[in-house]
Amino acid sequence: MSHKVAPSLLSADFLQLGKEVETINASEADWLHLDIMDGVFVPNISFGFPVLQAIKPVCRKPMDVHLMIVEPQKFIREVADAGAYMMNVHYEACTHLHRTVCAIREAGMKAGVTLNPHTPISLLEDILADLDMVLLMSVNPGFGGQRFIEHSVDKTYRLKRMIRERGLDVLVEVDGGVNLETGKRLIEAGADVLVAGNFIFKNPDPQKVISELKHI
Ligand code: DX5
Ligand code: ZN
Repeated sequence: MSHKVAPSLLSADFLQLGKEVETINASEADWLHLDIMDGVFVPNISFGFPVLQAIKPVCRKPMDVHLMIVEPQKFIREVADAGAYMMNVHYEACTHLHRTVCAIREAGMKAGVTLNPHTPISLLEDILADLDMVLLMSVNPGFGGQRFIEHSVDKTYRLKRMIRERGLDVLVEVDGGVNLETGKRLIEAGADVLVAGNFIFKNPDPQKVISELKHI
């Protein structure tokens, strides 16, 4: 199975959001990645549910929503109503992660759990079988355009091995500092989904960059 590409709207031109979503619609992107930040879990605030609601009728790609917020379990209904395909919550933000994952699935979405760069994959041992995806952060969450943390390649490899050893069907997504060079190494290490923000939207031809990432 070929890997997926999920452009992160965080690096798009917010004055032209409709146009930017249309650019993604007409591209080879598989999903649209949407980053919600609360200024508490991460030191930045991005956009919230009204923006997701506005994007919903225009977006023709499955919406991959990444919540960088405390207590994400409080907003499962809002994320589902906004039409999300995948809801990603941070391991570090969930005290009752199993309950939250079950509630996400009951709301009709796929469930993803995100790990910060310092959080070991071993902590997923007793939840992995209940997940649709693990999102590995390859930068500290909160901002686009940061430098890729090298350790993420080995972490991707080890996570993929852990999933295969258990015979599970769980995707591995990697987010932060992805470009053609880091993306290639992540794919070789077993990544199933590449998120990229700056690398796509800061290029004059985002569709070409998406195609290049898709055909690594
Ligand atoms: C960072 C976000 C990312 C971000 C990636 O906290 O989760 O999705 O948009 O941006 P780049 O690809 O620019 O590192
Ligand atoms: Zn993200």
